[in-house]
Amino acid sequence: MNLQDYIAQADALERDGSAALQGAADADALEAARIAFLGDRQGQVKTLQEALRAISKDDKPAAGKRFNEARTRLESLHAERKTSLDRATAPAAAEDRSLPARRQWRGAKHPVTLVIEEIEGIFRELGFTVAQGPQAETEWYNFGALNFPPNHPALDAHDTMYLEGEGLLRTHTSPVQMRTLQKYVPPIRVLIPGLVHRRDPFDASHAPSFEQIEGLCVDEGISFVDLKATLNRFAERLFGASRTRFRPSFFPFTEPSAEMDVQCGVCGGSGCATCKGTGWIEILGAGMVHPKVLEAAGIDSERYSGWAFGMGPARIAVSRYGIPDIRILYDSDVRFLEQIAE
Ligand code: DAH
Repeated sequence: MNLQDYIAQADALERDGSAALQGAADADALEAARIAFLGDRQGQVKTLQEALRAISKDDKPAAGKRFNEARTRLESLHAERKTSLDRATAPAAAEDRSLPARRQWRGAKHPVTLVIEEIEGIFRELGFTVAQGPQAETEWYNFGALNFPPNHPALDAHDTMYLEGEGLLRTHTSPVQMRTLQKYVPPIRVLIPGLVHRRDPFDASHAPSFEQIEGLCVDEGISFVDLKATLNRFAERLFGASRTRFRPSFFPFTEPSAEMDVQCGVCGGSGCATCKGTGWIEILGAGMVHPKVLEAAGIDSERYSGWAFGMGPARIAVSRYGIPDIRILYDSDVRFLEQIAE
């Protein structure tokens, strides 16, 4: 047989076989078509394979290739048809009406947003309003107005992201203290949530951009007692009836300055992984507003005094929800977010 005739036969076989296999109405018809075309003994495919022997040596590779194509196609059509017939005739799976319906994920608030909103609610009750300020700041608002000396290490390009020309991305929300003091007359009570940026690479406890919440209270006759009473009340509301402690600290814009720790709610103060064995969780920095800050805003520091604080709600979210790595908060993986979302 010459090559042309062989290929014509293969074409015809493939066409007829396809029609028979695809058109098989049920399992019996399919089996009959399989035997007729793909059957081992007298199947037409087998016959075509045997006809290869009569092909000249030169034409054999081309004929063999065509034969293989036709066979493979018919085999896969058979498998396909079998699967679809099996599926159509399989008994319907018993219905389980006790199975809970699949809940739809509609999205929800991020854990850090939940913490910020809760903190805003607590301070609103205490008479604070919520304010915001720009993320692109001038050096003066970010550092100078806050009494940072010109050679302070925080100004280092190592920690700070400077913008081309003038300005920088604020490294904390404290510059909004000055913007508020310039804009309003005391009594002032504001809470300032917002994003801040530092050249910290991502690791388990640091992110280069993160939320802060600043608080500021300025009026006549404000003392450290007001600071402690307000922040203790806040800690009580946010963490339950836990104890707090104030440790002396330093910030250029407050004097005196303190850091507030809250007794660990997980272990009750005996020491665990959440509090790294210390029994305490560091929550915020605070202090009495430095007279130089008030004066820079044109506020008489003899008449008025105030206190301020700054904290990181992501840190609070991490300890509250037992999150092992702060980076998870920024991955936008809904499988994680869904566990916490309300
Ligand atoms: N701005 C400080 C920081 O980013 C936090 C801070 C500390 C803010 C003490 C304050 C304060 O208002 O009184 O680390």
